[in-house]
Amino acid sequence: MESYAELDWVVIMADLDRKSTIAESSQITNALLKRSVSPNQINTDKGLILYLEGISVSFDGFRALNELNLYIETGELRCIIGPNGAGKTTLMDVITGKTRPDKGTAYFGQNVDLLSKSEPEIASLGIGRKFQKPTVFETHSVSENLELAMEADKRVWATMFASLSSEERESMDEVLLLIGLSEMRRTQASFLSHGQKQWLEIGMLLMQNPAVLLIDEPVAGMTQQESETTADLLTQLAGEHSVIVVEHDMEFVRSIAKTVTVLHEGSVLAEGPFQKVQGDPLVRQVYLGA
Ligand SMILES: Nc1ncnc2c1ncn2[C@@H]1O[C@H](COP(=O)(O)OP(=O)(O)O)[C@@H](O)[C@H]1O
Ligand SMILES: [Mg+2]
Repeated sequence: MESYAELDWVVIMADLDRKSTIAESSQITNALLKRSVSPNQINTDKGLILYLEGISVSFDGFRALNELNLYIETGELRCIIGPNGAGKTTLMDVITGKTRPDKGTAYFGQNVDLLSKSEPEIASLGIGRKFQKPTVFETHSVSENLELAMEADKRVWATMFASLSSEERESMDEVLLLIGLSEMRRTQASFLSHGQKQWLEIGMLLMQNPAVLLIDEPVAGMTQQESETTADLLTQLAGEHSVIVVEHDMEFVRSIAKTVTVLHEGSVLAEGPFQKVQGDPLVRQVYLGA
């Protein structure tokens, strides 16, 4: 992709020439910004993909995160649980650059200081986030949704060369297979079930080949069957990607979890295999209500 860099510039400048509304040029600026960092630069020699240390976030004096430490291994599937207000969403916001902590350090690999990067830079470095509500393009087909999810600069390419490269086509086929929507690639997204829309959105994240996937409550509103399929999907993604899942559904967490982190009042209360965490007296007290 690097080798396209110069050509991309030409295409982008040509595009700027043609379209000059503020909205469009800001999109193009984002595409340029994306190229300022490269995913290949992430150093994971020590086997860790994320290092968060002593992270504190305050809102009007209230500590949403309090000296939080979190280490995620490369290729790991981690579940984060905790009662409402524990700081789970704030934690995701810190990792993705949406919220800046007052204190602490956050590294992506050993060498990328997340706190020095903007939200779009972090996304382009390979930390993808899926919010709870599916946000697919309803009037577009499944495959068009995946196409639209490719990097912003690819969209500029698409306006010039309306078709995908064989490499892009291949990665789309792979993603369609993974998310179980190969047979539905031409179906308009509005006809998908809630579960299928969630999988499509995970597929859209995968089109950007992120090193880390942050997924907020993937099985909320899913049927039991869809929930099981989602567990299989996330399990398959781990290894190739590092996956962090925030989830309330205990049955789901039990079914997929390798390591569970329990947040409480902005700090890690307990961490370990599901059975161990479930049996922890502190966890039972504050979370499981026993
Ligand atoms: N932007 C904000 N302004 C003020 N308080 C906030 C803000 N975001 C979160 N909080 C507070 O921080 C605490 C942690 O919130 P959050 O991270 O959303 O918890 P969780 O996702 O675990 O339910 C909550 O008490 C919440 O009210
Ligand atoms: Mg939340």
